[in-house]
Amino acid sequence: MISNGTSKTVIQLHVNGETKDVMIRSGDTLLQTLRVQLGLTGAKSACQNGDCGACTVLVNGEPMHSCLSLSIETVGQPVTTIEGLNNSTVKQMFVDKWAIQCGFCTPGFILNCHALANKHPNADDSTIEEWMQSNLCRCTGYHEIKEAVKAVLQNQENGFVS
Ligand code: FES
Ligand code: FES
Repeated sequence: MISNGTSKTVIQLHVNGETKDVMIRSGDTLLQTLRVQLGLTGAKSACQNGDCGACTVLVNGEPMHSCLSLSIETVGQPVTTIEGLNNSTVKQMFVDKWAIQCGFCTPGFILNCHALANKHPNADDSTIEEWMQSNLCRCTGYHEIKEAVKAVLQNQENGFVS
């Protein structure tokens, strides 16, 4: 970490497999840094209060609300955004199951689903329900989203990894 002598500091973030230098203020959220400094706008800015999950990213494989995470707290930890899951099976399952309407909530759901598939590959319906409660869909497409999540878990059983 290098101070530039002003109120800003240069830190290195590890995002989607790449190391990036970013200049931040100590109070900058990870969401701000991803969107404004790195141009990774897949994480959406909505409630900014931890309530909706639109800003979900993975930090060390754990789903986090990036609106409540400080950029400085993620130094040294791998961050994955929706841009890092291009061409992933999880993303394709959401498309195949029509689990996208306006798409605003979709990156957050996909990242949350990716973490669920890694941590609870045999999740039952109630675990899926509970896990996905951290994300809201304003278009209320929950049925299709659940079908997509189930399809991801099913694919994983059949040997898919991504
Ligand atoms: S924008 Fe972060 S939880 Fe809503
Ligand atoms: S698809 Fe529109 S908010 Fe979920």
